[in-house]
Amino acid sequence: MKSYLVTGAAGFIGSNFVKYMLQKHDDVKLVILDALTYAGNLGTIASDIDNERCFFVKGDICDCGLVDDLFAEYKFDYVVNFAAESHVDRSIENPQLFLQTNILGTQNLLDVARRAWVNGKDKLGYPTWRKGVRYHQVSTDEVYGALGAEGYFTEATPICPHSPYSASKASADMVVQAYRDTYKMPVTITRCSNNYGPYHFPEKLIPLIIKNILAGKQLPVYGDGSNVRDWLYVEDHCKAIDMVVNSGREGEVYNVGGHNEKTNLEIVKLTISTIRKMMEDNPAYRKALKKQVVGADGQIDISWINDDLITFVKDRLGHDQRYAIDPTKIKNELGWYSETRFEDGIVKTIEWYLNHQDWVEQVTSGDYQKYYDEMYSNR
Ligand code: NAD
Ligand code: DAU
Repeated sequence: MKSYLVTGAAGFIGSNFVKYMLQKHDDVKLVILDALTYAGNLGTIASDIDNERCFFVKGDICDCGLVDDLFAEYKFDYVVNFAAESHVDRSIENPQLFLQTNILGTQNLLDVARRAWVNGKDKLGYPTWRKGVRYHQVSTDEVYGALGAEGYFTEATPICPHSPYSASKASADMVVQAYRDTYKMPVTITRCSNNYGPYHFPEKLIPLIIKNILAGKQLPVYGDGSNVRDWLYVEDHCKAIDMVVNSGREGEVYNVGGHNEKTNLEIVKLTISTIRKMMEDNPAYRKALKKQVVGADGQIDISWINDDLITFVKDRLGHDQRYAIDPTKIKNELGWYSETRFEDGIVKTIEWYLNHQDWVEQVTSGDYQKYYDEMYSNR
């Protein structure tokens, strides 16, 4: 049985990773460490922590004593670090929290793992490591900065972050690489493009748009909507991380992306038309609408679900124009590829949200409305 510390797994990608791992492997034990910030939700992982191979601990990755105790108790073979402040817009409002969690949290995990895993010294004074252990850092394509109309991010692209969020993630990557170079620590890093899928918090573009359409609210598109993101279904990202942790070369960075570039305006229009079509084909879905208008035929009217809902709002400060990943390395070395076509993934995602309105209510019941008003009113 391999023992994993999975941090931040009450959030979007980490929770999908836990579900993926429990389903895929019989021989893994997972300990989730999550501080349950606004982005973490126990309901998201409730069914997973019922499993006897999965445990939950509420706590901060910056808490050295707690992480030390967890290492002593569970004798981890792997650390997979998802825990982070992850929203660019929030980083523009409160950069310090991002530096604290994303950089110092990462450094704390590395340090505790180092103490637990080092078992001696070689002739040159470098630490030697318990066999089979690995620290994996879940990073992002945003560390590379922004592209113009052409080209792709490869692993050789220089790091050039622009937002406080991406600067904190880039710094964390550099700390991970410093532990590799200085202590020969067995580490890997993945840098993935934008994910979408179930359990995505509705502050990010796709789930926010779905939520607003169902409520009949305006759909805020930053600037002119021409910024490009490279969307990947979350399960494909989880598969990539599993492959890299188990078979990736030590010390290496792997880019992860599915060659699915779309402008934000395309994403919003596609989400509108897909929801409308699903509700035309299956009127039972109309029950998920918060805005209920009954037509002359006695049916719930959906004619208002159209592009008129789109509203262009003030642009994000320092808004990166385009991200696009070249995934050749992970494809050639590990045989990874993106299995979910965007046309299928977006339908699966919308269907999940239509069927899980209770989850949306739960995760937006706290400060969400306040956040939304601060971020979007008078924008
Ligand atoms: P998320 O915001 O949905 O989840 C983050 C989780 O981390 C939450 O459960 C939160 O409670 C937890 N957390 C925050 N601070 C913590 C702390 N100090 N200690 C312990 N737990 C803490 O984020 P996500 O979208 O799932 O992203 C996960 C990771 O993947 C992040 O490192 C992010 O940078 C990276 N990433 C995200 C994307 C994407 O499209 N969402 C793409 C590439 C990489
Ligand atoms: O590229 C990977 C990154 O993707 C991850 O590292 C981040 O954690 C994740 O949040 C995501 O960052 P983005 O800033 O690209 O995602 P977001 O969903 O916030 O925005 C996607 C695009 O949509 C971006 O160009 C901004 C725009 N946008 C976003 C929101 C929330 C809008 O036009 N309107 C909105 O209301």
